[in-house]
Amino acid sequence: MKSIVVANWKMNPPTFRAAKKLLEVTKKSAERSGALIVVAPPAIFLRELRQLYRGKRLAYAVQNAHFEGSGAYTGEISLQQAHDAGASYVVIGHAERRAMGESEDDTRKKVAAALARSMTPILCVGEKSRSASGEYFGVVKQQLRAGFTNVPAGKVARVIVAYEPIWAIGAEAAMSPRDMHEMSIFIRKTIVEMHGELGHRVVILYGGSIDEKNAGEMLRLGDVRGLLVGRASADPVRVSALLRSL
Ligand code: 13P
Repeated sequence: MKSIVVANWKMNPPTFRAAKKLLEVTKKSAERSGALIVVAPPAIFLRELRQLYRGKRLAYAVQNAHFEGSGAYTGEISLQQAHDAGASYVVIGHAERRAMGESEDDTRKKVAAALARSMTPILCVGEKSRSASGEYFGVVKQQLRAGFTNVPAGKVARVIVAYEPIWAIGAEAAMSPRDMHEMSIFIRKTIVEMHGELGHRVVILYGGSIDEKNAGEMLRLGDVRGLLVGRASADPVRVSALLRSL
């Protein structure tokens, strides 16, 4: 099965010119890698990038969108607007958005709204820290339960879950593939408890300090279909090294 790499550029790069260059490199490397690359640029670059660079191995995401269709929500964009600009995926509940106030209620509504618009939600979950007592499983379970509450039975397998432990985001090292393997089993079990056997088909990604040195191993041993990448996706040299390593 084709692996998926989501390139979360966050609030980078600084200009449209630099964004074009980054996407050109990403697209070339994507074609060689055989993976599906989902580029999540700043929304203001999305439409033009997508007009310039299309391809079988390239899809687009927004890093966030509102669950309401329209209205008085200054500074927000709707899922319909994102879709109209070329996004087929939407990142929901990223740790950095949660830190800015995105609630479980928001993630629940956004996942359901994305599915209703035939967009693929990428629901991000992950704990702030870990201790030996394992309470982080409870944190992840609660985030999953919220995100999956309003998912219609037939659409469970359309939700992508991205596990990003906050302590591994922007850090020196990624989590070990062995620990991810354990978490993947837990994530599936939690979704199966809620929605039955279809939960086994949910695609799981890992995110947090992925680069060309650890990406291949995580895909081989972490029990994940793909990766959600921050820093290494927003730099032309690093992204080509990363995609070459797959
Ligand atoms: P880094 O790859 O920079 O650690 O960021 C991970 C992330 O938050 C991707 O969404």
